[in-house]
Amino acid sequence: MTRLKLDDAGLETLVEAFYARLRADAELGPIFNDAIDDWPHHLEKLTAFWSSVMLTSGRYKGQPVPAHMKHRDRITPELFDRWLGLWEQTTDELMEPDAASALQAKAARIAESLQLALFFRLDR
Ligand code: HEM
Repeated sequence: MTRLKLDDAGLETLVEAFYARLRADAELGPIFNDAIDDWPHHLEKLTAFWSSVMLTSGRYKGQPVPAHMKHRDRITPELFDRWLGLWEQTTDELMEPDAASALQAKAARIAESLQLALFFRLDR
């Protein structure tokens, strides 16, 4: 199978495949399916996000922390590990090896900072 390159077309296909897996996941699926009504819009936003992060395209203008904070009562550190596991599988299967490694490293750093924002509080 031809592996995908780290460009906008590759990221679009990757994002589509990854969210199909997330939605089918027994633990993560319900959170996403309850939160998101307009899937084409979400996938477009997430493709723009990864394009901004990996290709510095500036296409994503959003605020990931408040978006996740809304779902704070359902999200746990264990679910982040599960999310990252699925991301690793999907990128390894679909992307060129260097692209897969770069995408995994970036996701791990973003997951870390999202978790700090969601779970680390000085006031308790
Ligand atoms: C949006 C869940 C991890 C990037 C969302 C939304 C949900 C969600 C439910 C929709 C928010 C809404 O509009 O109501 C989760 C869960 C995660 C997780 C359960 C792990 C346990 C991550 C990670 C990244 C990420 C690791 C990045 C590497 C994003 C982005 C958005 C988003 C960019 C769009 C935010 C916006 O509206 O601008 N996520 N997420 N998420 N997520 Fe996650």
